[in-house]
Amino acid sequence: KRLILIGPPGSGKGTQSPLIKDEYCLCHLATGDMLRAAVAAKTPLGIKAKEAMDKGELVSDDLVVGIIDEAMKKPSCQKGFILDGFPRTVTQAQKLDEMLAKQGANVDKVLNFAIDDAILEERITGRWIHPSSGRTYHTKFAPPKAPGVDDVTGEPLIQRRDDTAEVLKSRLEAFHRQTEPVIDYYSKKGLVANLHAEKPPKEVTVEVQKALS
Ligand code: AP5
Ligand code: ZN
Repeated sequence: KRLILIGPPGSGKGTQSPLIKDEYCLCHLATGDMLRAAVAAKTPLGIKAKEAMDKGELVSDDLVVGIIDEAMKKPSCQKGFILDGFPRTVTQAQKLDEMLAKQGANVDKVLNFAIDDAILEERITGRWIHPSSGRTYHTKFAPPKAPGVDDVTGEPLIQRRDDTAEVLKSRLEAFHRQTEPVIDYYSKKGLVANLHAEKPPKEVTVEVQKALS
């Protein structure tokens, strides 16, 4: 399967991805995770992306299309993939169609994590992550066994630089202005399944399974 996950910051894309990935043996390509790794490693890509990310704005289409094009060539992605956080502009969606058309492939389903903006600040400001595995926790909704520490490795958890109430406002603005048109783009192709992303994680997982069955 070739799946796309679209939703605003904190809607649960990263939380549901590992479950879908394991069930269908897909590779998980999250542009945000890849960009954060590039920023941490201070690569030329990371240096270019950092300023926009810190402000909660989108990184340029050329940069993200380049990293997705590269990542999709990995052998583990040949059977299918989950795109988490890509495409985020109509231009990115068109470029993706072109890349897939070259392989004679197409998008199978777009999962729309629909949720009210008002819920997202609490989700974002309470999030803690284990950077090397990508495991995500929440102080209230998904607390680690010991505060501030990853359940599996015992290593410290961190908060993302852009997970402040202030930066969230720009991220939401970017979502409504630039990414919502992408949902229309795929709706016209009949590919969108709408999820109730405000429900508890397990209930969202059931909706995902129904959408993909
Ligand atoms: P990115 O990393 O993609 O961030 P985002 O889209 O803002 O999404 P998040 O990762 O914040 O949310 P999520 O839906 O994964 O939520 P999660 O499951 O963790 O992008 C970051 C930046 O990179 C962008 O701002 C941009 O600058 C750049 N970028 C990335 N892709 C780009 C692209 N294609 N083009 C241009 N620029 C790009 O959940 C959040 C919290 O809530 C967690 O603590 C979790 O435990 C909790 N939670 C999850 N589900 C539930 C639930 N059902 N109930 C209660 N709590 C829940
Ligand atoms: Zn995420």
